[in-house]
Amino acid sequence: MIPTAMDESEAPVSWSLKFTLPDWESRASVRSSTHDYRLPGDVEQQLQTRYWFPPAFVPYLAHPAIQAKGRETLHRLTANHLVYFLDYTTLLEHRIVNRAVEVIAHRELPIYIPLPMKHAALQLYTDEGYHALFSNQIAEQIAAYYSITRRPVIPKRISRMNALIARTPEKNRALAWFLLGFVSETIIARELLEVCRDTLVSSVNDMLRDHLADEARHSRYFAEAFHYFWIAMNSRQRLFASKTLVEIISIFFEADESWLQQSLRSAGIAEIDVMEIVGSTVTVQANRARARAGCKPTVEALHKAGFFALPHNQTLFAKAGLIDG
Ligand SMILES: [Fe+2]
Ligand SMILES: [Fe+2]
Repeated sequence: MIPTAMDESEAPVSWSLKFTLPDWESRASVRSSTHDYRLPGDVEQQLQTRYWFPPAFVPYLAHPAIQAKGRETLHRLTANHLVYFLDYTTLLEHRIVNRAVEVIAHRELPIYIPLPMKHAALQLYTDEGYHALFSNQIAEQIAAYYSITRRPVIPKRISRMNALIARTPEKNRALAWFLLGFVSETIIARELLEVCRDTLVSSVNDMLRDHLADEARHSRYFAEAFHYFWIAMNSRQRLFASKTLVEIISIFFEADESWLQQSLRSAGIAEIDVMEIVGSTVTVQANRARARAGCKPTVEALHKAGFFALPHNQTLFAKAGLIDG
């Protein structure tokens, strides 16, 4: 990679300009949002027409056994889903994304980090801290509202990410953290864009919108950062990055079987239906289909960086079912 000793004045100006979060002081949610992230007083009334989470994004809700149970069960299952998603988000922001941001802010990779890039990393770190705070605030209120007690301490995906880091040799660890951040930050904006809608309970929608507004900027920042790092990597680092990216993308779209079982049971779904629903949600094909659809923004960023100019990378991604062969 480019040596750290490179003088500030030697930084390519065109690159430096890309590594900013435009108007952060006036646009970041932590600086500008006036929302208090409290459940609305009329939540019960809102639930007559609104949802905790869009049912269209929880495909198993269409199962006849759940449909037959009616609206209360639908609300309970989407509340479970949202609390799980927010608990996962809280950990992801602190333990994964901000760890990746530390790699940039504290120059842990042997690559010159222009000052604007470091400064934006410190702003991004602040954003993620705030996202963890409001995600947790909403999660705790919904958990209290439904008396949801069995919340996994570490969701499956976070455990898988920690395991990936643990088995990565020390010399590649900072790069692996960065790649986890890159994948997370390029997929989350689209994920939030899809689920935000006016048919959600008002404070949930406000919170998701505040998060989305920041993530649209983060996604661009991480895509540019990847491009910059990719150019600087040697072939050994590129080889490691390529295989690790495939693994990371698959982790981000894995279903959590044991959580899903427990969520369905808590809503009174019969055991035979629980098994059928879990069986069709947690298959290799279902995981792959989710990954292929959800990783499009990441694949786009990889394209822009010239990643697929290497035929090996095209083959690798096609074999994993993430792009066409
Ligand atoms: Fe975030
Ligand atoms: Fe972010």
